Amino acid sequence: MKILLLGGGGREHAFAWKMKQSPLCEALYIAPGNAGTAALGTNVPLNPNDFEAVGKFARQEKIELLVVGPEEPLVRGIYDYFKEHEELKDIHIIGPSKRGAQLEGSKAFAKKFMMERDIPTAAYAEFNSDTLDEGLAYLEQQPTPIVLKADGLAAGKGVLICQSVEEAKDELRAMLSGKFGDASATVVVEEFLDGIEFSVFVITNGKQYKVLPIAKDYKRIGEGDTGLNTGGMGSVSPVSFVDENLMLKVENWIISPTLTGLEEIGAPYVGFIFFGLIKVGNNPFVIEYNCRMGDPETEVVFPRLQSDLVELMLAAEKSTLDEIQLIEDPRAAATVILVSGGYPEAYEKGKTITGLDAVEGSIPFHAGTKLEEGVVKTNGGRVIALTSYGADIKAAVATSLENAEKVQFKGKYYRRDIGFDL
Ligand code: AMP
Ligand code: GLY
Repeated sequence: MKILLLGGGGREHAFAWKMKQSPLCEALYIAPGNAGTAALGTNVPLNPNDFEAVGKFARQEKIELLVVGPEEPLVRGIYDYFKEHEELKDIHIIGPSKRGAQLEGSKAFAKKFMMERDIPTAAYAEFNSDTLDEGLAYLEQQPTPIVLKADGLAAGKGVLICQSVEEAKDELRAMLSGKFGDASATVVVEEFLDGIEFSVFVITNGKQYKVLPIAKDYKRIGEGDTGLNTGGMGSVSPVSFVDENLMLKVENWIISPTLTGLEEIGAPYVGFIFFGLIKVGNNPFVIEYNCRMGDPETEVVFPRLQSDLVELMLAAEKSTLDEIQLIEDPRAAATVILVSGGYPEAYEKGKTITGLDAVEGSIPFHAGTKLEEGVVKTNGGRVIALTSYGADIKAAVATSLENAEKVQFKGKYYRRDIGFDL
């Protein structure tokens, strides 16, 4: 089978690594890919949001399976584009329709969707520039902290946790005046939930689903979960506090009604759903939906998945997921992300990376890297994800940290405390 994978981060390197192990994978193209994916398939310099170019390439190369890594092409409707074109419509696509992707593309849509189905989530209200005054009055009535979220995609920056009503009012005004461009033309104001977060992923076709290994990511730049939010500084799997009882609630209260809801609204959905959850007391609540796999969670979830990923994705497409027994690696896995100095604020690119050959006992997934005349250079904030197995999380993290010292580039920074709270 000829596969085209869209995206170029650590998540996509992990996808490529896992798909490459499948006997079903005959040819693998990654667009645009990175220096890591170049070793597993053919990188193609295409922009995943340029559907015409992606479609043209897919036709030329007789692609049979399109796997969409990031959310943006999905929210923009790549699924619908392929289905609307006669010569593309038979290509299997892993990724939801534009309507299904609204679960991530619009926070207001997702909140309404959950409220209508009694899916546990924080109480909320939504405001736009016409209802600013109502919004300011609403904020006056809220306990702090107050959570403000840009409705649309804001590159992971659209969530603000305000410690005072005054701060929340200033931010609401700023967001509605375009702080995050069109993404914050509508703002969701949410109750703050106090608990511990975890990430649940399913592969689904809207009816059947399989739960992948449970993970937890570490978003803050600083140790002890301090400082600015990032795309993710590390992740672990499994998650000790997520027991059978909690997962039963997740499946019955969250996963099943979400799938029923997608069917009710007529949103075709073959792909991954990422449930960003928080455990408050003994109960799970939805913080957010994503219509794709998580990054850096994928870098621990796929290494712990022993089942054939390509087979699993095709089974979702063919509605034979129920016939597959999902097998998890009993070992723990952890990933530690090496980032560019300055990240998540301004940082430099183009630094030479050395020491990747010396990595032992970890899988170095490339995130922001590129090949320049045969030399691997930094090309983003998150640079390398070092994933290791271990008897437990602590052992896995220790191996990643040993290797983190060997990989060198100017300005390298990483957290040494991934998994500290488990
Ligand atoms: P997001 O960009 O939607 O993943 O949100 C970023 C982070 O903000 C989440 O991972 C949570 O840590 C935090 N967050 C979002 N919504 C809430 C909430 N209602 N209560 C507490 N924390 C939240
Ligand atoms: N790790 C969080 C995300 O992928 O959005």
